[in-house]
Amino acid sequence: MPLRRSAPTRREILEQCVALGSLPVVAASPARAMLDAFEQHEREYHRPTPPNELGPFYKKNAPVTSMFRVPGDPGIPLVVSGQVFNTRGDQLTGAVVEIWQTDHLGHYDLDGYRYRGKIALDKTAAYKLDSVMPGHYPDRVCQHVHFAVTAPGHKPLVTQLYFATDPVFEGDPDRNFKRDPLIHSRELVRPVMLVGDPDQIQAAVRFELCLEIL
Ligand SMILES: [Fe+2]
Repeated sequence: MPLRRSAPTRREILEQCVALGSLPVVAASPARAMLDAFEQHEREYHRPTPPNELGPFYKKNAPVTSMFRVPGDPGIPLVVSGQVFNTRGDQLTGAVVEIWQTDHLGHYDLDGYRYRGKIALDKTAAYKLDSVMPGHYPDRVCQHVHFAVTAPGHKPLVTQLYFATDPVFEGDPDRNFKRDPLIHSRELVRPVMLVGDPDQIQAAVRFELCLEIL
């Protein structure tokens, strides 16, 4: 009975493509160097999302919702979207993303669950949160949104999202992100796209979440 060979790795597939000429390789970039660069990129892409403090304002039993914003809410509308995957690149369809933040003035809802919710991911492993840009509050330097992500077979992730447009960074988050002593990683400060008409502007942010396998 013939031995069954395990599935080829991505590198083996790429090597075959190079050998067969179906993947063009420029002369200045030898195939091996290109493959090494590809693998380096893959490793970086699948790096776990840096953790960040839970903070004192987490509340259990948040409702299942991805719509924090209700008609009439003041503040800049904010949409945060992304996908949840693991360090192998698998989409985590069974993940649950819990999110909490302040209102636009920097107030947490301690009595109820405004601006708090959890999202159970479907087969796309994608989430989309409709909210408002959180405000600053006295104990924290930067605007932020808290995330707690769980998925079977994976290490839970607790982290925070920051905004490159935060006035604290004075337009230069690369240089100034450490002004908030809780921001340990520049990766958590994300670009903000402002979209829509001037009188109905909306902030849009991508925040992919990558979990470690247990
Ligand atoms: Fe907070």
